Amino acid sequence: MDENTLNNLRKNYQKGELLESQINPNPLRQFEIWFEEVFKSNIYEPNAMILATSSGNKPSARVVLLKGFDERGFKFYTNYNSRKGRELTSNPNAALLFYWMELERQVRIEGRVEKLSKEESLEYFNSRPLESRYGALASNQSEVIPNREFLERKFFELKEKYGDNPPMPESWGGFLLIPELFEFWQGRPGRLHDRIVYEKSEKSWKIYRLSP
Ligand SMILES: Cc1cc2nc3c(=O)[nH]c(=O)nc-3n(C[C@H](O)[C@H](O)[C@H](O)COP(=O)(O)O)c2cc1C
Repeated sequence: MDENTLNNLRKNYQKGELLESQINPNPLRQFEIWFEEVFKSNIYEPNAMILATSSGNKPSARVVLLKGFDERGFKFYTNYNSRKGRELTSNPNAALLFYWMELERQVRIEGRVEKLSKEESLEYFNSRPLESRYGALASNQSEVIPNREFLERKFFELKEKYGDNPPMPESWGGFLLIPELFEFWQGRPGRLHDRIVYEKSEKSWKIYRLSP
């Protein structure tokens, strides 16, 4: 594709606004308000979020699914030995990003992660469809494997072995990201977008606007 075609790809955002007079003083509540609106608009996988991690000088990012949020923070599940798992274990500072293009909205969240308790992870693991539980069991996530057959063979061997009750892998579980900073971005016409930041200070949230 030539550069001109890309250079001419742009949208004029006009689906909403985010004004200080409208926002909730609690960013988790503001997130919930936006998330409910996103959910109602029937967009595809509204809970898909980009998780950025880093250890040393090599940042990395990938999509994971948000599986719950409350006053404590944001939950997702993964393999603790995967690249992200290892990076989060050595450096718990991480960022999440939601981009809901249909509503011209972006939310950035920064904070620190903690592992969820084994009980909480197990409860979620057992609520997953059987195939997904076997998928988690068969995959040493982010390890190099010889080919696809290797993975499928392992999947079926484990199914033979455990039937309807696959155990949760030792290396599998949830993380909770405890937020310290949020930025809510709403696209506006003429690139004069709204950017409202909530930054944790002591026990309250400092709220300010950034230039787009
Ligand atoms: C829509 C979507 C949802 C995903 N959800 C998860 C998830 O919840 N947990 C997870 O470990 N990987 C999930 N993945 C796969 C990750 O993006 C990634 O490939 C995998 O976790 C390995 O990442 P890592 O090597 O950086 O650890 C998802 C991918 C996509 C595209």
